[in-house]
Parts: sequence; structure tokens; C-alpha cells
Amino acid sequence: MKPFIVTHGGVGAKEEWKDGPAEAAEAGAQALREGRGALEASVRASEILEDDPRFNAGTGSRFCIDGRTIEMDASVMDEQGRMGAVAAIRRVRHPIRVALAVLETPHVLLAGEGATAFARWAGFEDYDPVTDKATEFLEKGLEKLEAGNVRPYYQPWIEFRERYPVFDPPEACDTIGAVAADGKGGFAAANSTGGSALMLLGRVGDSAHFGAGLWAGPAGAVATTGIGEYIIRGLVAKEVYDRMERGTPTQEACEAGLTLLPPEIPLGVIAAGPDGRGIASNGSLPTGTADLS
Ligand code: GLY
Repeated sequence: MKPFIVTHGGVGAKEEWKDGPAEAAEAGAQALREGRGALEASVRASEILEDDPRFNAGTGSRFCIDGRTIEMDASVMDEQGRMGAVAAIRRVRHPIRVALAVLETPHVLLAGEGATAFARWAGFEDYDPVTDKATEFLEKGLEKLEAGNVRPYYQPWIEFRERYPVFDPPEACDTIGAVAADGKGGFAAANSTGGSALMLLGRVGDSAHFGAGLWAGPAGAVATTGIGEYIIRGLVAKEVYDRMERGTPTQEACEAGLTLLPPEIPLGVIAAGPDGRGIASNGSLPTGTADLS
């Protein structure tokens, strides 16, 4: 099997933005060419997407409902079961690199203030990921909520807003991700997100939940994108991985993953398996791929 990498810019992101995932895939492929392994390849690719303000991760992340705070989740995992994640981390440029640094600690997941403090200790500089787009999303979302014009999966928020006093939600949700195969049996998955649009401070989505947002093992690597609360309930990444482990072809396993959630819930799945890549989604999903010869 030849090394390869697959990247995505989040379900719901515009297909015409696929130059972003394509550039990210090329950066990951370069890491594979350098012999840096699947984990580093998936992280390098994710960093490119975190720096691209079109996508909801790193720079370009959405605001929490207070309208001023950005909290981000990110995670990495490889075929040896090595895993690292951060949840609700603030003010770092590359949450995915911090997740990779967590992998070198005795822990698996660091959250909130502790995650940010760890990042500073590990040398990650203070960085403000706020963009004008975050404000635009907030304003548009508020208008939609006022009009009662939200997607089915956000309907519970209409009632919740009555009870929750500080509530300024935009409507948007996506994630960036990458899966890589080193061609020698090594697989890795990486996820990073600014979270869901309708998000309380402290909310953690699927991107920092192993088994939901990502999973990796000897049978391959899987990353998902969509509405975190549903992906967590469906344990989507592990379900897709388990199918691959039982011998389901990678593309078929990704397609089967889509059936785990109600069809109106946006969901995307990418995977790297011994038989190649899988990409499936029930909405727009800009992706990039790079295969090494
Ligand atoms: N999939 C991104 C999130 O729900 O946090």
C-alpha cells in the first residue's frame, strides 16, 4: 500500500473552498515524503486548515454564545492507540499541535483553563483566533433564531433560549480533519474545530471525543464532521472503524456511517484503510487527497 492522506474542511463548508483541503493534503503528503509518519502528516495538514479563516477551526472559529469567546476542541490518534486531545481551549493558533503535545503527557485530554495553561507551559504563544466572520455568523444566526428559522437539529434551542439569559447564537457548524496512512501499516486521524454555532461556554463536541469524532487502529483511521451532540450519541467514528476491522471496504464503511444518524443531521466521514480511502457525506464537504507514488 502506498502512503496517502485525505483532508476535509467540514460538512456544510462550500465545495468551492476545496483548494484549502487540497493545500492541506499536499502539506501532509510532504510530511509523509519526509518519513515523518501518519500522525505528523495529519497534524501538519490540520494546521493548514486551522490557519485558513474560511473554516471553523483555529483562525475562523465561531464564537460561543457570549459573542466574545472562542473555545476550540482538537484531537489526534494513531494506529497504536496513542491519543491526545484538548477541549474548550482558548487563545492558541494551532489546537491540533497542543493535542499532539498532550499525547506526550500521562493524560489523554486536557480541558478549559488547564488546557490553555498547558499550552503556555509547552511554549504555545498567546493567539487571538477571532475573525470578522465570527461576528458575521453571530449576527446572521441571531436573525435566524429571532425569525424561528433554524435547522431541525437546532429546534431545541428555540425553547432553551427562553430559559437561558445570555444567548446569541449563529447557525453554523463544521470541523476540519485529516486521516493519513504511511504505507507501512501506520494510520492516524486528526480533528480540530471551533465547535458548534449554538454553543454554551464550556460545551465540548465530538472533535475531542474519541470514538465519536475520530478513531484509529491497525485497521485504519476515521475522522467525522457534523453536529457533535449527535455524532457523540452515535459513536460514529468507532462504528465506522469497527466495520473496517470486520473487513468492510473503507468506502463502504464510511457510507454505512452515514446511516447511523438521522438523515437531516449533517454528517461527513473520511477514513484511511488498508484498501485506500473513504469519503462520504450527506451535504457539501470540501475534501483534498494526496497519494504518494
Ligand atoms: N463537529 C463539531 C462540533 O460539533 O463541535
